[in-house]
Amino acid sequence: MILSPSATEGSPPAADGGAGAVPRHVAIIMDGNGRWAARRGLPRVAGHRAGAEAVRKAIEVAADRGVEVLTLYAFSSENWRRSQDEISDLTGLMRFYLERELATLQREGVKLKLIGEPSAFGSELAAKLERAVEQTANNRRLTLVVALNYGSRAEIAAAARKLAERSRAGECDPAGIDEQALGMELQTADLPELDLLIRTSGEVRLSNFLLWQAAYAELIFLDTFWPDFDEAAFGEALDHYARRQRRFGGR
Ligand code: FPP
Repeated sequence: MILSPSATEGSPPAADGGAGAVPRHVAIIMDGNGRWAARRGLPRVAGHRAGAEAVRKAIEVAADRGVEVLTLYAFSSENWRRSQDEISDLTGLMRFYLERELATLQREGVKLKLIGEPSAFGSELAAKLERAVEQTANNRRLTLVVALNYGSRAEIAAAARKLAERSRAGECDPAGIDEQALGMELQTADLPELDLLIRTSGEVRLSNFLLWQAAYAELIFLDTFWPDFDEAAFGEALDHYARRQRRFGGR
C-alpha cells in the first residue's frame, strides 16, 4: 500500500484503538533524492544535500515525539554500483554533516550508533565516525542508528557464521540455536524490536534493509520524495502507526 501524505490523516482508528503508542524503534529507507532533484532540473547531489537537511528534521521529530531509536538507511552495500562521482558526493556530505552536526547531536542528547561496514569508506571517515560514536555514547534521549555500507543478508550471514564458529569451538550446541540466539548476533542486538519501517518515494520494497528485524514491524510506504519528508509527514506516519492494530500473528 502506498499512502499519499494526506491519506495518512483520515484513516479511521482500529476497532480497539490500535497500538495507540509511540513506536520505540523507527527505521527509514530514505529514497527519492535523485528524483526530487531531477524534477527541479538540479544535479543529483542537490537532492542528497536536501536529503541531508531532511535527516536533521527527522532526528528532531523522533526525539520530540519520544521515539527511542531512529535507524536510517544512509548507504546500502549495493550503492557502490553508483558512479564514482555520486559516491564521493555522498561520502563528502556525510563528512560535512558529521563535522557540522556533532555538537547538535551532543546538545540534543543523541547517541550515534553505526551498523553495516563503515570501514569501507576509508580510514579517515571511519575514524571520524568512530570518534562521534564514542563522544555520544552516554547520550540517552534518542539513539540514531546510521546504516552505512549495510546489507541485511550479509548481516544475517555474518551472524550465522559466528554461531557456526561458536559451535565448532564447543561453546554452544547447534541444536539449541534458535531465533533469539541468531538475533543476539545481529548488529541490532542491543536495540528494541523494530516497530515501524517507513520508505519514501513510492517504491514498495525493503531493498535488503533490516529483513530479519522487520518481521513484525508495521510498514508505511509514502509517495513523498525523501527531501520533502518534513515534520508533518513524519508526524502523520507516527499517528498512523498509533492507529494500527498489531497482532504479532495472534488474533
Ligand atoms: C536515496 O535516494 C538516498 C540515498 C542513496 C542516500 C541517502 C543519503 C542522504 C539522505 C544524504 C546524506 C546522509 C546523511 C546521514 C547525512 P536516491 O538517490 O536513490 O533517489 P532516486 O531513487 O530518486 O534516484
